[in-house]
Amino acid sequence: MWTGPAVLPQTEARPLPDGSLAVGAPRIMNRREARTELVNPLAETPEAVAEGRALYEIYCALCHGDQGSGDGDLARHYRRMPPLTAPHVLNYPDGFLYAIIREGGRNMPRFGDALSVDERWALVHYLGALGPRDETAEAGSR
Ligand code: HEC
Repeated sequence: MWTGPAVLPQTEARPLPDGSLAVGAPRIMNRREARTELVNPLAETPEAVAEGRALYEIYCALCHGDQGSGDGDLARHYRRMPPLTAPHVLNYPDGFLYAIIREGGRNMPRFGDALSVDERWALVHYLGALGPRDETAEAGSR
């Protein structure tokens, strides 16, 4: 066991063989590809935004704050808690927001395991509803 190819505790899972795909899952893209290539497959219905809001309150508000202004209960434990109502965030392309939620960041946890694909896209719709969008800041990106 010790010398074999077993994955030891606290180590990386072994990489998948080349060309293998998780059944039913979309191909994982890096954040830059996701930014330009991923399109939100969920229609922006009131139901999708409401689902995004419910998920936001469960998973995100404790850090980013109820209204996304960066003042959640845990925010004071972080050096920086970005407000999600900042114009640059509101103007992130959908695919980029999706990738942030999936992979997390330097200090933000990843939600790829906790949320389904549709739940992440519903959150993207809700993030877009957090503030008025500045159409000029990143023209043509959404
Ligand atoms: C444990 C605290 C925490 C939670 C929970 C959390 N975040 Fe974050 N988030 C952060 C931090 C800290 C950053 C700044 C980047 C970094 O250090 O990772 C960040 C960055 C971001 C950014 C990029 C902001 C920018 O200025 O570029 C977005 C978008 C975001 N979070 C969305 C979410 C969403 C949506 C959720 C819920 C699914 C969520 N976050 C949950 C801590 C958190």
